[in-house]
Amino acid sequence: STRYTAKNEPILEYRRGGKEVKQLEETLNEYKSKLNRIPCIVDGKEVWTNSVQRQLLPFDHQHVLAEYCLADPVLLERAIESGVKNRSRWEQMPVEERANIFLKAADLGSDLKWRSRLLASTMLGQGKTIFQAEIDAACEVIDFWRFNVQYLASALAYSPISTRDSENTYIQRGLEGFVAAVSPFNFTAIGANLASSPALMGNTVLWKSASTAILSNYVVYKLLEEAGLPPGVIQFVPSKGGDFGRAITRSPHLAAITFTGSTDTFMTLWKWVADNIGNYRTFPRMIGECGGKNFHLIHSSADPTTIVYATIRSAFEYSGQKCSACSRVYLPRSMSKTFFAHMKSIMMNELKIGSPLQHETFTSAVIDRASFDNIRNYIEYARSSPTTKILVGGQCDDSVGFYVQPTLIETTDPKDKLMCEEIFGPVLTVYVYEDDKYDETLELIDQTSNYALTGSIFCKDENVLKKTRARLMQAMGNLYINDKSTGAVVNQQPFGGARLSGTNDKAGGPHYIFRFSSPLAVKNMK
Ligand code: SER
Repeated sequence: STRYTAKNEPILEYRRGGKEVKQLEETLNEYKSKLNRIPCIVDGKEVWTNSVQRQLLPFDHQHVLAEYCLADPVLLERAIESGVKNRSRWEQMPVEERANIFLKAADLGSDLKWRSRLLASTMLGQGKTIFQAEIDAACEVIDFWRFNVQYLASALAYSPISTRDSENTYIQRGLEGFVAAVSPFNFTAIGANLASSPALMGNTVLWKSASTAILSNYVVYKLLEEAGLPPGVIQFVPSKGGDFGRAITRSPHLAAITFTGSTDTFMTLWKWVADNIGNYRTFPRMIGECGGKNFHLIHSSADPTTIVYATIRSAFEYSGQKCSACSRVYLPRSMSKTFFAHMKSIMMNELKIGSPLQHETFTSAVIDRASFDNIRNYIEYARSSPTTKILVGGQCDDSVGFYVQPTLIETTDPKDKLMCEEIFGPVLTVYVYEDDKYDETLELIDQTSNYALTGSIFCKDENVLKKTRARLMQAMGNLYINDKSTGAVVNQQPFGGARLSGTNDKAGGPHYIFRFSSPLAVKNMK
């Protein structure tokens, strides 16, 4: 096994008039001008089921982007059987050949033809601007494929110590059974990683992608197929959450669940696994990345301009729908006047909200009606609560798309639900603390961090920084110092959180793929 060194995929700029934009616009028009019909894929074959659902444009909900087939429990059974049947052939394929499929996929994704498909399907279906789609559906997708191969290659290069009388080796096997992958709408790259990582390690995968990300996830599947992924390695089976969850947890062959989505759903999956615990061939592994309630903590030594731009980007890019988005700020009284004035001025004059297809758009609509209603309820609550005040925004308009204006709220209650619950929308709540109550504020942050995903500390004082890091050590999985809490890059900031945020297995880091490996240690007497 030779070493392979990956590099992060460069971000393209899509300058007006450039060839990237031309190709992208053609692909956008192609997807927009027809109804995109998407089957399930089981054992490498298209299955057109009778249960058909629609994917809408979030920013123009009268426009149906795609019709996709749902897998019912019977088809899910078949998909599991196919995975179980195909796994040993796949696992026995030389690991270099397996890895080469994903490197080929990365090269295809890097090329404009597939890149523009990945981007266009993500922009339309998930409402991402060009830049947000580029860093997700192009760069991060490609990075996952390349870096996971690098991590595997370095593990294969490792061999335990051999002694004079025995030769010791270490073999990376797949898990015995199939892996279930459940992916969310907010990053095309997460779906790509959840389906590909177990496959790279020699497993077969049942992939349930989010209904609101079907088109882009189907593009990912088709790309992998073109890169040479054999039939039956990944089963593409959009389905109802309950049907999927029951089918996988009932199967004795369930070897792992890799999940990104809500904490509640992840807990339900744990319970269903527990209900079936006596039936499994091997203990299923549970890998989860769930919710967050990410904070920006500002110390009075922080740079005032940095904090404003970082907070705007973290809280409102992609309408606050990144798992890592900042949704609560702790601000010292001494900085509050200038901070609020600066935030207001940018939010009211500079952030263009509209179609993600327009170049100057900062952010667009939220993903769907359920999300829109949920966010609106929080804003209504803020309007009526005596301890909170809406400083900017608060308008919601679903006449054309699911638009929620970026909203800035101040609360005088640091334990308000706006400071504790995940909202997953462009709603930011600020609590102003007295400058001499910094230590109490640290205490408070830890206490209200039921989630522990990302957090940023803005502070120029090294001693304060040291104390803050020590006190908040367990309150996040990704810590940023003097930078926004979003934008983890594969291999640079392996991503994930603990507490209610998940099992902190760190996608985009060297350990993640080994959750899908069941190594065999061999002693061979000479
Ligand atoms: N990885 C993304 C980020 O860091 C969140 O899912 O923004």
